[in-house]
Amino acid sequence: MSVPVRKAVMPVAGLGTRFLPATKATPKEMLPVVDKPAIQYVVEEAVEAGISDVLFVTGRAKYGLEDHFDRLPFLEQALEAKGDLDRLRQVREVADLADVHYVRQGEPLGLGHAVLMAALHIGNEPFLVLLGDDIIDRRNPVLTQMMNARAQHGGSVLCLMEVDPSQIHLYGCAAVEATDDSTIVRVTDLVEKPDAASAPSNYAVIGRYVLDPRIFAELERTKPGRGGEIQLTDALRTLAVDVPAGEGGGVVGVVFNGRRYDTGDKLSYLQAVVQIAAERDDLGPSFREWLRETVQAWEH
Ligand code: UTP
Repeated sequence: MSVPVRKAVMPVAGLGTRFLPATKATPKEMLPVVDKPAIQYVVEEAVEAGISDVLFVTGRAKYGLEDHFDRLPFLEQALEAKGDLDRLRQVREVADLADVHYVRQGEPLGLGHAVLMAALHIGNEPFLVLLGDDIIDRRNPVLTQMMNARAQHGGSVLCLMEVDPSQIHLYGCAAVEATDDSTIVRVTDLVEKPDAASAPSNYAVIGRYVLDPRIFAELERTKPGRGGEIQLTDALRTLAVDVPAGEGGGVVGVVFNGRRYDTGDKLSYLQAVVQIAAERDDLGPSFREWLRETVQAWEH
């Protein structure tokens, strides 16, 4: 019987250089998307998929993040005293979302290194990794699909999205072959941020993973790769290409064609905020009207 996925790892220790100076003293995952930090959308997505144990891999300036997912008695008392019960409920809900744990990544040596910091907490069971700069629309329950793929195929599971070839240099890229199931492909090779000419496909790896615990042994052995960082992609490649299925190897991909918002750099962050605000029931109607008028004014 397959071991269920119970825990999620969320690395938030990157330097966020593309978003400086905002990220000088704040992890980029804490930047607000409308009225919630990006990472809250991601924790909510994991919780909706049935995960209650979340490990953050933190770096510098983690205190805002810890406070965000904790109870804050003085704030709650102030809201209670004002009779602002709706906001009181919202701040309490964040603290009660999940059972949250923290581990430090002493130096930001790469995403692979950040995931390795989770080894002790995870132990010998499959687990999720979610990146805080990818927000996935809650109407697309891709995590459930990915956990089902793990139950069916074993090994590790990636979330793949077809992108324009001109964009593939921004992502990890997977070479794939078809399986009997049209929504799942077998990953035969992986390369981190290839240029368009050498990319094996236009399947980009996006920030959701189900990983077999065998990944830890491979990450221990992984040398710094592209950008001098220990790349998760390199360890996953070993699982896909060299490690037999019975020993934790094998990688499949779930092909994602739902809605995803990228908050990792300034332009895509702005696009995410505008799209999410425009679709909100409360803010959307007046925001869309303002946006329409503003764009018309720019065009004249
Ligand atoms: P990114 O490469 O997108 O994040 O890493 P970054 O390095 O912070 O961003 P830029 O390129 O400098 O702007 C993907 C995810 O992995 C985490 C990041 O926080 C992000 O969620 N990460 C990356 C770590 O936790 N530790 C690292 O050493 C590197």
